[in-house]
Amino acid sequence: MLIFTQIADIRRFIAQQKDQNKSIGFVPTMGALHKGHISLTETSKKNCNITVCSIFVNPTQFNDKKDLERYPRTPEKDTELLEKNGCDVLFLPSVHEMYPNGTEKELFDFGNLDKILEGHFRAGHFSGVAQVVKRLFEIVTPDKAFFGSKDYQQVMIVKALVKQMHAPIEIVACPILRETDGLAMSSRNVLLSEEERKISSVIPKLMQEAKTIILQKGIEAGKTFIENETSKQPLMKLDYFEVCHADTLQIISNLNESKNRIALIACFVGRIRLIDNLSL
Ligand code: PAJ
Repeated sequence: MLIFTQIADIRRFIAQQKDQNKSIGFVPTMGALHKGHISLTETSKKNCNITVCSIFVNPTQFNDKKDLERYPRTPEKDTELLEKNGCDVLFLPSVHEMYPNGTEKELFDFGNLDKILEGHFRAGHFSGVAQVVKRLFEIVTPDKAFFGSKDYQQVMIVKALVKQMHAPIEIVACPILRETDGLAMSSRNVLLSEEERKISSVIPKLMQEAKTIILQKGIEAGKTFIENETSKQPLMKLDYFEVCHADTLQIISNLNESKNRIALIACFVGRIRLIDNLSL
């Protein structure tokens, strides 16, 4: 696996590959890699000639400084894992390489999409995501980029970004990988204490139960169920549970409003904020 830390070097490499008509698949990450990330590089390998993974803990998308400070960083383990799984290129830039003029936030207009759900509870988060993904896309110029549906709203933001950029990049949404107890894999899971980790496994179970309730009794009954159940757990604090149109993320209150529905949840367990979603 080739490792690049400088933009000029990876650009030169990509240009050489394109001259040989090689297709480029791209998996942007913030590291602390797990099987969820690897499932993305595997899908990229199946679909493209060259797979590029980036690891960059992007400061502009963290609205909470403490969250940025404690974000897990395991570069040696990550490199080994990528190498073992046949990733071709790792791009590992420094903050200065990505933001030579400082980490001033770039503003984007995504209409309502970056103001609801995650955008409401993490103000400015999606501007930071769009800022870094735009820079990474300009550097890597992939044919296809692979994103996890765990961050469902992020996938929609990235699709909107690519449209705004007029970039010929196909955004591929990949399924959520889960631990054996159902918890969605996340880099943040390692930050959970043993007790918090146990409690976290309740989230996917509540989502499944809420789905059954919603399909039988409606959205309001499902929301009440989630609010009651999460408030019973002293270490849990619910940010939101909403049912949305899966293709616009417009929040709905009645099942008749859409056939293509998704339920999304964000919930603190102790200090760690977890998200998940389920098609309804
Ligand atoms: P990060 O949280 O490291 O996630 C990188 C990619 O892995 C994202 O597309 C995310 O949705 C996907 N992913 C995470 N957990 C997953 C799981 N359990 N199953 C499948 N895919 C999973 O998302 C980011 O980084 C950043 O916001 C980034 C896009 C890199 C911009 O900084």
